[in-house]
Order: sequence, then C-alpha cells, then structure tokens
Amino acid sequence: MSKSAKLKAFDGATKTKLDILEKYLEAWVAIFYRKPARPKANIIDAYCGSGQDDLGVRGSALRILDVLISSEEFKKRSRLSNLTVYLNDQSKSKIKALEKLISTNKIYDSLNIKISCKDGDSFLTETLQTRQKDFNLVFIDPYGIGGVSLLDFLSKLHYTDFLIFITSGYIKRFKDTPEFKNKLSGYDLDNLSVTDKYDVHNTLCELLREKVSHTETRLYPFTLVKSHGPKNVYGLIFGTHNIRGVDKFLEVAWTIDPDSGSANRDIDARKQQTNLFDTTQGETKTDRFHKDLKQFIINSKQVNNKQIYEFTLKKGFRPTHANQFIKSLIKNKEIKSSHPRALRLNYEDIYNLKKEPIIFKVVQT
Ligand SMILES: C[S@@+](CC[C@H](N)C(=O)[O-])C[C@H]1O[C@@H](n2cnc3c(N)ncnc32)[C@H](O)[C@@H]1O
Repeated sequence: MSKSAKLKAFDGATKTKLDILEKYLEAWVAIFYRKPARPKANIIDAYCGSGQDDLGVRGSALRILDVLISSEEFKKRSRLSNLTVYLNDQSKSKIKALEKLISTNKIYDSLNIKISCKDGDSFLTETLQTRQKDFNLVFIDPYGIGGVSLLDFLSKLHYTDFLIFITSGYIKRFKDTPEFKNKLSGYDLDNLSVTDKYDVHNTLCELLREKVSHTETRLYPFTLVKSHGPKNVYGLIFGTHNIRGVDKFLEVAWTIDPDSGSANRDIDARKQQTNLFDTTQGETKTDRFHKDLKQFIINSKQVNNKQIYEFTLKKGFRPTHANQFIKSLIKNKEIKSSHPRALRLNYEDIYNLKKEPIIFKVVQT
C-alpha cells in the first residue's frame, strides 16, 4: 500500500471522536435488535478513510465492522441480514486500501458491506433518499465544514441518528470569507465572534438547534480540543429524533467526560481561568444543573418523573444526575413524592404503560 493511501497517526482528540462513534454504535445496535418488528437498517460512513492510521489504529470503517461482529446479535445469528454498512470516501487510494483490509479479514464476509468512491454529501443524500423509513445511523467526518449543509436534510428523517464532525474553531475564524459565507448561508454567525474560544462548538450547536427548531431533531455537542499544537476547537454534533437516542448518547458522553459530559478536556476550568469577572468560580456544571432543576420544579409547583427526565436530558445531563438530587429534596422536605420509594427516572419505567407516573409536589411552607 502506498504511504499516501493512509492517514497520519490519529491524535488523542481523533481517537475520542472514534470512541464516541464506537460506543454509540454499540448502544444503537443493541436497541435496534431488541425492536420486535425490525425494519431495515443502514450504517453509513460517508467519509470513511482507509480503515486505519499509519500505526494501525482502527478508523471509523473498521470500528463499525468490529462493533457489528462483536455484537450479541451477530454472535447469536452469525449474520445481520437486514443491516447494511455503506462505506464511502472520495479518495480512490483510500478506498483501495480499505477494500484490501476488509477482503483479507474473512470475519467480515458475513456482513453486508457496500463500498463506494463518491463525493460524500451527494452519496449520503442519494443513499438516504430511498431509505428514509429505514433505521439509519450516519457518520459524517469530512476535513472541512461540509457536514453542516446536510443538517437541513438529515433533520427531516425520523429514524436517522447522525454524528457530524465540525471544525467549529475554523468557522469562527473564517466565517467572513466568501467560501464560508457561501457554505453557511442562512446561519447568523455573529454570535461566534463574541464567544469564548472553548465555547465555540457549544455556541455553534445552539445556532444549529435554532435552524432545525421546526423539526423534532434534538442536537447535542461534544467539544474536541487537541492536546498538542495549536489549541484548535472542533467537535461532534449528535442528532436524533428519538429521546432514547439522546439518553444513550449522553451515557456515552458522560462516560468519556465524567466532569461535564461534553468535552475531551476540562473546558469549564479553562473558561474560568480566562474570565476575571466570573462570579461562579468553583461551581461545577452539575451544581448549575441542580439549581436549574430545582427552579424548574418550584416554578411548575408539580411535576412528574417524565417531565424531570425530559428536562434532565434537554440540559445535557443523565437521569443519574437528577436522581440523587431529587432524593435530597425529598429528604429535606422541599418536595414530596406520590411514591414512597421509587423515582422511576429512567426510559424503561417512564415509557412502560403499565407503570404509573410519579408525581412530585413542592411543599408549601
Ligand atoms: C477526517 S478524514 C476521515 C477519517 C475516517 N473517518 C477515519 O476514521 O479514518 C476525512 C476523509 O474525507 C475524505 N474526503 C475528502 N473530501 C471528500 C469528499 N468530497 N467526499 C468524500 N470523501 C472526501 C478524505 O479522503 C478523508 O479520508
């Protein structure tokens, strides 16, 4: 294989990006195979690269295939017949290298894999156009900002979850150039100019949320900062119509970043270091969430477990973050619950029609 057919060695931020894809895919496959009426499913890696870096660290394409062959369902059936993996990259040499890697590993023979060499955005729209009712997971990992222009299209697909890699720091830097203006027309990017460097990906996610607010798409950011060299800020945007997808993505995000569930480095601490006027020094993101949750309950006077669950996910937190806090509010007699023991702040209990909602009321003093 020629040297140029490979990527350079992946850095830490890139490995985190690939870990997120891999872990979310594991959860996605498990949910899909638990569905009673299983539709067709597709995993589409539109900018898949050559399969591995110079050191043999697996890239997105091989990680996808490996997750599938390691899944419980594959082990049971040794075939995932209604699932197809689409791997695409515009570079002929990368696709050649990838085909070689896949064909020399016989274990992949039992997967339905379709490999192509086309422009990623056109390939994606063509492929999804006829698969809108299928259950899809899409990974968009271009070098530039291409993925953003696909958001409008993706946000209309009810059963499609997606992870888009975006070079957010570059958008902040080059947003006034004709090329970026052209690609990002329809977005009001002025807010990015006044945004803290480490918040740029979060701010961009807010702009994207506004853009798709007429749909049921929920978007979540994960910021990636390189550990060496210039501290450019990039990130992933996860999108789904499905609240369970949000729950699973946040589980992955908080496993990778136990401090804030949203970055590969402690960007909260970096922001506080650079902001002399910050009056919230020492307050963690979780402390702020607890304050917001308490205010939400006080304002509502009465809420049920589903409302708390949805509020928690909307704020980018996991049900476990709400759980202990709600228990402490009950213990301190600030709220009372309709159930003596259970809180039922989890997807399975909330969407199980046999289980009654739990009501939490503010205690009047
Ligand atoms: C960041 S790399 C993707 C790496 C890959 N996800 C991995 O894990 O190895 C971006 C890829 O996009 C490909 N590419 C660049 N322009 C493209 C286009 N217009 N359409 C499809 N692929 C393109 C490049 O060849 C490169 O492999």
